[in-house]
Amino acid sequence: MTALLPVAVVISGRGSNMEAIVRAAQASGSRYEVVRVIADRESAGGLGRAAALGIPTSVVPVQQFADRATFDAALGAALAASGARLVALAGFMRILSAEFVANHAGRLLNIHPSLLPRYKGLDTHARALAAGDSHHGASVHFVTAELDGGPVVMQGRLRIRAGDTPDSVSARVHALEHIIYPHVCSLIAAGHVEWRNGVVYFNGAPLAAPLIEENDAAA
Ligand code: GRF
Repeated sequence: MTALLPVAVVISGRGSNMEAIVRAAQASGSRYEVVRVIADRESAGGLGRAAALGIPTSVVPVQQFADRATFDAALGAALAASGARLVALAGFMRILSAEFVANHAGRLLNIHPSLLPRYKGLDTHARALAAGDSHHGASVHFVTAELDGGPVVMQGRLRIRAGDTPDSVSARVHALEHIIYPHVCSLIAAGHVEWRNGVVYFNGAPLAAPLIEENDAAA
């Protein structure tokens, strides 16, 4: 049996994506395992969820660090100690330094609730609705020094419905996120998706456009 890819998940909040990543890892046939969940605050609801799933947790409490550089160094040390070879940021509400990102190049993923490159930053659901977009969704991307700007591996796409609100769209986007984030972790663990010097490869060829998961039925 080949070794499982050790994955760490880094959170700030409720951790529903973390839970989806863990549950997929705990299903039979997974090629990756979640070795640790790390939060930047004690209050992160996902810490309890992770513990209930049997995953070791740590907190790197952001308020105890004087600046970004010292926090990032502590987070990097916690990740190194975990033995993770892939790091999934999942609702992690801090911007990481260019140095941290460079140190983890090709091993750092994030999920963003929009069809990148549209709507980098916050309030993505309201912005997609205000723009009258026909579709919206979420993107799993490798993290680079540009905020929400790294190469996208997979997108979950859904159709915006008449009468949608930011909350109704958010619920359907979350359901899609819980499909695509574990899927990308699995593709990386199986070697189907690879990062080579800043370029994402899918089955040996450069990935020209994100892989798409279409789902209009998501609750
Ligand atoms: C998700 O919408 C994700 O796209 C964004 O933060 C949210 C995290 O939700 N980065 P959860 O904590 O995984 O429930």
